[in-house]
Amino acid sequence: MIYFDNAATSLQKPDSVADAVYAAIKSMGNCGRGSHSASLEASRIIYATREILAKLFHIKDASRIAFTLNATESLNIAIKGLLHKGDHVITTELEHNSVLRPLYELVLEGVELSIIKSDFSGNIKIEDIKQSIKQNTKMVICGHSSNLTGNLLDIQRIGELCKEANVLFVVDAAQTAGVFSIDVKEQKIDVLCFTGHKGLLGPQGTGGIYVREGLVISPLKTGGSGFLSYSKTHPDKMPESLEAGTLNGHGIAGLYAGVSYILEKGMEEIRKKEQNLMWQFYEGIKEIPNIKVYGDFSTNERAPIVTFNIADYDSGDVSDQLAEEYGIYTRSGGHCAPLLHEALGTKEQGAVRFSFSHFNTEEEVDVAVNAVKKLAMES
Ligand code: ALA
Repeated sequence: MIYFDNAATSLQKPDSVADAVYAAIKSMGNCGRGSHSASLEASRIIYATREILAKLFHIKDASRIAFTLNATESLNIAIKGLLHKGDHVITTELEHNSVLRPLYELVLEGVELSIIKSDFSGNIKIEDIKQSIKQNTKMVICGHSSNLTGNLLDIQRIGELCKEANVLFVVDAAQTAGVFSIDVKEQKIDVLCFTGHKGLLGPQGTGGIYVREGLVISPLKTGGSGFLSYSKTHPDKMPESLEAGTLNGHGIAGLYAGVSYILEKGMEEIRKKEQNLMWQFYEGIKEIPNIKVYGDFSTNERAPIVTFNIADYDSGDVSDQLAEEYGIYTRSGGHCAPLLHEALGTKEQGAVRFSFSHFNTEEEVDVAVNAVKKLAMES
């Protein structure tokens, strides 16, 4: 099996991640729910994971990070906890349904939504965001990278723009956390939503939300917090304000190991390897007759994704053939990115997405290029 579906989830993880989950299952009590050593062990690991994530994202106070199940949960918390009737929010056509669907729900409750258009390369103009800001604009929310094309958004510039306009800036880092540098202070990010199971190399069911100091988000869930048990209301201090019920401590232990691995190996080294594999694949397929590649390859800095179609072949059929005949795993179809598929003209056909990990090799990419050549010749 050759796995090129890392934008969906990273499958090859460092051994230390599996070892940490196994050790946690064998030893971990419930964080904050006891004073015995098994409970303290859970608290210690969870505290350490908040700290290491804070280091990764340049967050001064680790208690501003709450753990969630995934980026989708974090985005729902940010969107539903901050926007109210009469507020205006700006997003882009590049977004995933985890941004779009909660926003569409709020539109039914009186929130105003502007969606910045994409061009045929999958890019938006930051100037369009600026022009869309008006008096009741409360938030700009966008992904750091498109999960479909790998095009990056200049979150530094968007952050500065939001700061000047006194608008909240919420970033979906599902595709970039652990691979691209994120500095919440430098990039003026008010809320950062991330998942643990992609670039951070942790287990599925882990993720988090960073909330800038001074910003209060109403929680999606309330319930057990492990303290203030006789209060009728959920604690209002971060991180517990956004964490109700038992955390995924076993998964968080694995996430700690994933982030430690990244910091030890070096995020830049990981990114360079992934980008080199992406460019090798792109160069190998771009001139093949009948191949159409989507996204902007005019810049070096892009997420390690190459998405394409072969003539008018259904993308699902191509992906299936790659899996069945060559053992190459990719993702096809709509990628939960409906507006960008419409903008690229691939709504009906979908597209075949290759997404790379630093665990992939040049030899695997060669096999993939040859497989795509053969499929294109047969078309
Ligand atoms: N959002 C993930 C993807 O792009 C699952 O495949």
